[in-house]
Amino acid sequence: MSSPQVRLHQILDWDSPQQNAGLRRELAIGLLQTQASIAPKFFYDKLGSRLFEAITELPEYYPTRTEAAIFIEHLPAIRQALGADFTLIDLGCGNCGKAGRLFHAGVLPSRYVAVDISVEFMRDSLQQLKRELPAIEMIGIGLDFTHELELPDDLPLERRMFFYPGSSIGNFNPPEARQFLRRLADQADASGGLLIGVDLIKETALLDAAYDDALGVTAAFNRNLLRHVNARLDADFDISDWQHVAFYNAVDARIEMYLEARRALTASWPDVAGRNLRQFAAGERIHTENSHKYSPEGFTALLASAGFGDIRMWTDPRKWFALFFARPAK
Ligand SMILES: C[S@@+](CC[C@H](N)C(=O)[O-])C[C@H]1O[C@@H](n2cnc3c(N)ncnc32)[C@H](O)[C@@H]1O
Repeated sequence: MSSPQVRLHQILDWDSPQQNAGLRRELAIGLLQTQASIAPKFFYDKLGSRLFEAITELPEYYPTRTEAAIFIEHLPAIRQALGADFTLIDLGCGNCGKAGRLFHAGVLPSRYVAVDISVEFMRDSLQQLKRELPAIEMIGIGLDFTHELELPDDLPLERRMFFYPGSSIGNFNPPEARQFLRRLADQADASGGLLIGVDLIKETALLDAAYDDALGVTAAFNRNLLRHVNARLDADFDISDWQHVAFYNAVDARIEMYLEARRALTASWPDVAGRNLRQFAAGERIHTENSHKYSPEGFTALLASAGFGDIRMWTDPRKWFALFFARPAK
């Protein structure tokens, strides 16, 4: 018996010389800045996606289980907000687990669109979900949504529900987040909406532990970034030279994550003119991620300024995490 089919749009293709050149250029520019940086989207090769799954199981990593509890507690209201006959567009779907749990709880879209930069991991996860729920039309889109969010031309405009859980919005700084949310509002009509998970400001010790767990899984996730960069850029980072650093910056309300050089070293990678070299002093850092935290009022204001209205929020009893639903104000 043949397996039920998902439709795949692979817009991001690392093997396409043109795209590959663009992503390599982006990596090289970040590495050559005074404060070297690598964007968090490069965490997600197949191993990076698996390491993130492991992070969500850690006792210190409260966001996933707190968000899941909010879904269970407020399922009737979430079901009512989403309505019927909608398209769920899952931004950074990962293993499609959160959408799958909604579907198995009876919140069923007519169409599910899974979007992720980690194309192979998304495809395998989506195919598994399709086997479990063959009646739902499923489309997978492999793309980098920081550049564009190109949806299939035949995707109906009505009842597009963007789903952005897990507090991934925190990877953008607030002005970038506003711009990203505005692009979502522009791609739906008044019958559509946005269901988004947001991590709330809380005690520093809880935040620090969530991003620097005792087992070292987050450290492995962070350091795996260099393995991915080596593969994509033909660079020669030695992972054993780098250690994980993560802390809460209360002034800017964000977790900052870095890789710190254990000794003075030089990293290199090829370019048209020969090899690019970047020297790092002992203790020098590469910035790898920010994760901005919000107050309920702050995120409500951000949604409103990005063109959303009819804003609802559900939270957990400790107010650690919030789930917002909002509609484009048209
Ligand atoms: C923190 S994980 C969250 C996964 C899942 N949504 C959850 O809430 O558990 C972020 C997901 O977004 C994807 N992602 C990160 N940056 C992306 C980008 N620029 N474009 C598309 N997907 C991206 C990653 O591959 C990963 O699956």
